[in-house]
Amino acid sequence: MTMTTTTEMTLNPETTVGELVVEQPNRSRLFEELRIDYCCGGRKPLRQVCEEKGLALEDVLARLEQLPTESQQSSHSTVAELTLGALIDHIVDEHHAYLRRELPRLDGMIRKVARVHGEKDHRLVTLPVVFAALIAELGDHLAKEERILFPAIRRLESGDPEDTCFASVGQPIQVMLAEHDSAGHTVEEMRRLTEGFNPPTWACNTYRAMLDGLRELEADLHQHIHEENNILFPRALEREQTV
Ligand SMILES: [Fe+2]
Ligand SMILES: [Fe+2]
Repeated sequence: MTMTTTTEMTLNPETTVGELVVEQPNRSRLFEELRIDYCCGGRKPLRQVCEEKGLALEDVLARLEQLPTESQQSSHSTVAELTLGALIDHIVDEHHAYLRRELPRLDGMIRKVARVHGEKDHRLVTLPVVFAALIAELGDHLAKEERILFPAIRRLESGDPEDTCFASVGQPIQVMLAEHDSAGHTVEEMRRLTEGFNPPTWACNTYRAMLDGLRELEADLHQHIHEENNILFPRALEREQTV
């Protein structure tokens, strides 16, 4: 049995959707279900997002308020409580490692499904092309974060800013934000090509496993981008102001 208790707190519809997930991470599940973008589009207030998507604000607020709060869950500390260095370790160990493991595995399945079923649904032939572009852009992106931006943020935290090739971490952060938008659009395109990652009745097991993997990849990427766009980057910029 799942216990849900209405919180006494009143949610402010002017709070951004990104901030709502920073405050309480399990809100991301409801946002995923409602197709509310809380990572790349996380800087928009909830009221505006509901208007744009044609969702009833009162209904969304009521569902948010029914979610168990952190203190009602048996959960451990959230990523928002980590230091900058620990948050970077978490992002690299969890999300970057996940991508390095999953992208090649999914690539193999996507190519196989295109080969076997491409005649039946031509969108399956487009999928490996779109996925190859995602692999290329993410490979490059992860390397830039790990070699340039993340070490610079670690130096900021240790109060030891060395000479870097940029005047402010704001410069590489702007590049990373644009790349997140681009990766988000590519995943959106894959969702469109696969009818929302839903298998047709005739789909074989590999096809179903591929869609399952892609759905999981989308959710992990949203969480990953959320942790960077809405937690790590704003905090690094704040930190830079104090050194
Ligand atoms: Fe990352
Ligand atoms: Fe990133």
